[in-house]
Amino acid sequence: ALPRDLEGVRVVISAGGTREPLDPVRYLGNRSSGKQGYALARVAAQRGAEVTLVAGHTVALPDPAGATVRHVSTALELREAMHAEAASADVVVMAAAVADFRPATRADVKIKKSDELPDPVVTLDRNPDILAELVRDRRPGQLVVGFAAETGDEQGSVLDHARVKLKRKGADLLVVNAVGDGKAFETEDNSGWLLAADGTERSIPLGAKAQLASTVWDAVVGLIKR
Ligand code: PMT
Repeated sequence: ALPRDLEGVRVVISAGGTREPLDPVRYLGNRSSGKQGYALARVAAQRGAEVTLVAGHTVALPDPAGATVRHVSTALELREAMHAEAASADVVVMAAAVADFRPATRADVKIKKSDELPDPVVTLDRNPDILAELVRDRRPGQLVVGFAAETGDEQGSVLDHARVKLKRKGADLLVVNAVGDGKAFETEDNSGWLLAADGTERSIPLGAKAQLASTVWDAVVGLIKR
């Protein structure tokens, strides 16, 4: 049995991917299945938390037992739901894969192909950084947990990028997932690192997404108790 160490704690978790519409039938999206965010919600509820899950698009997943689920589609809808729920939360976790950009215009009718007209060019507008906003607006004592989906490049390793992101976003905890090559997105298992604002870093071995969720909640309980 899991410890009931989140009893009386109200947590809000985002999961899944956002869809940014181009026209009534097409969208820009990403590969998030929602499994990691749902596992966080399930484990938190099992540990006694009062859980609200703000779910974007996911593969078919059952609502986590004991959680309240709000379904959203776009980044702007996810933003509105997270701000509303965070206003009364003790812990906020952003596991959703939020689109950084959305099509600047949304056509009212299906975009047609035409031999007379040039092919369309999609212009993108930047979506708000919801995690940064939640950090900015946080209530006294509220903990904010971010995720980072990173790939290494010439500028630095996955961890180098994640350390910069933790500072820039100002979260208390950042879960870092290496992505690409079939990792993290859509899988049953996940691994990575857990970085804390105090500079503590630990690696999370590959295991079920529920296992990674437990590691995150252990760290949250540690921070709440201080
Ligand atoms: O859903 P699964 O298939 O189980 O996969 C899980 C996962 C890989 C999607 C998940 O573990 C994960 O890493 N989620 C975060 C993905 C992501 O968007 O990372 P990012 O590095 O682009 O964003 C960093 C953080 O800012 C995230 O907490 C994200 O929710 C948040 N963000 C990003 C963009 C934006 N406009 N607003 C945000 O709040």
